Amino acid sequence: MTSLPAPIPAPLLPLDADPRTATGRTLGWGIVSTGRIAEKVTPDIALLEDARLVAVSSRSQEAAEDFARRLGVERAYGDETTTAAAGRVPATGLERMLADPEVDVVYVATPHGQHAEHARAALEAGKHVVCEKAVTINAAELRGLLDLARAKGLFFMEGLWTRFQPGVQRIMALVADGVVGTPEWIQSSLGFVAPADPDHRIWRVDAGGGALLDLGVYVLHWPWAVFGFPTQVDATARRTASGVDELTGLTGVFEGGHMAQMQMSLVSDCPSTAVISGSGGTLVVEKPLHAPRTARIVRTPAGARLTGQDAPAEEVLTFELEGKGYVYEMREATTRIQLGDTESPVMSWADSLRQMELFDSIRESIGVVYPNDEA
Ligand SMILES: NC(=O)c1ccc[n+]([C@@H]2O[C@H](COP(=O)([O-])OP(=O)(O)OC[C@H]3O[C@@H](n4cnc5c(N)ncnc54)[C@H](OP(=O)(O)O)[C@@H]3O)[C@@H](O)[C@H]2O)c1
Repeated sequence: MTSLPAPIPAPLLPLDADPRTATGRTLGWGIVSTGRIAEKVTPDIALLEDARLVAVSSRSQEAAEDFARRLGVERAYGDETTTAAAGRVPATGLERMLADPEVDVVYVATPHGQHAEHARAALEAGKHVVCEKAVTINAAELRGLLDLARAKGLFFMEGLWTRFQPGVQRIMALVADGVVGTPEWIQSSLGFVAPADPDHRIWRVDAGGGALLDLGVYVLHWPWAVFGFPTQVDATARRTASGVDELTGLTGVFEGGHMAQMQMSLVSDCPSTAVISGSGGTLVVEKPLHAPRTARIVRTPAGARLTGQDAPAEEVLTFELEGKGYVYEMREATTRIQLGDTESPVMSWADSLRQMELFDSIRESIGVVYPNDEA
């Protein structure tokens, strides 16, 4: 059983946030990696009013060039080979990209085991950073990055895209306005059958594999948004031979005695919804709970079941997502950087840190240890 600090209110992004109200300066973006999420997010960065896709870095020059050509990125930086760099230590693709003066902000899209190293390098080179979730492997790594960003006056943000989506914000506002009465209990789940390849990042300890670090931010999002941060979390998990968690359940208790059950799976298909049940009804955030396009509300007058009243009508809400849904977090990062802020109140440093501290304590109770923990 893990006891946690007092809850804080859920943040709400002002929906009228518009980067054009800031300086309007175009930011040059550098993408770290040519992996799956980099491929999905980069076209969304291109949708921003004031972004330039300046560069991509990769361990492979060929992969960087292929990515750049397909996604309209201006320059491609791969690791140098010894022959190409005779007489000096070959530079990595990341080092080469960080030396590019036209890169203002770096989007780190490597496995989480590598986030701290890559984000640190970017901050040391004077670049702002948006870093994929899970932001680091542990809280100690994150504290180091935040100290560095603070010392350098640079922007740093965990790219928890869910928090920035207007549909998600709308659901949060409706629940806060009492659409289901007093919310009492939330059940959230996210899961899929992950690739069987044992070398996939999801199974590797050096990459920060496992369900908690991959999916935890999403199943925690809804209870946190509705109830505040948990005061207590109990965890159960099944581990693989490689030592990562593949089937993980959390029970959270919140201020006021509200509760949540959160499930994550890398071996089975979960509902991947969030069910928010309250004294006056239920709101279901439909699959996928981290980027919902639909939510269902069923309002239930108190005692309706007992008095035999007819089942209440369902109300279905639908939400548009611009691009693939990553535009919003990147627009917020742009706005903040243009304003000279070092963090976003929507995904603040404090929120990322308390989340990593929670994950540290959960990992301690389920026995998941990464090489980064011992560094
Ligand atoms: N926000 C979201 O919706 C979302 C969705 C999926 C994943 N993610 C997050 O994004 C990150 C990357 O996930 P992904 O699914 O894109 O992974 P992926 O497909 O395996 O791509 C990761 C890329 O990182 C680069 N890399 C650098 N060092 C590496 C190392 N030591 N081992 C493996 N790859 C290395 C590789 O690109 P090069 O070969 O070009 O160097 C690789 O292709 C993870 O932190 C994950 O949690 C976020």
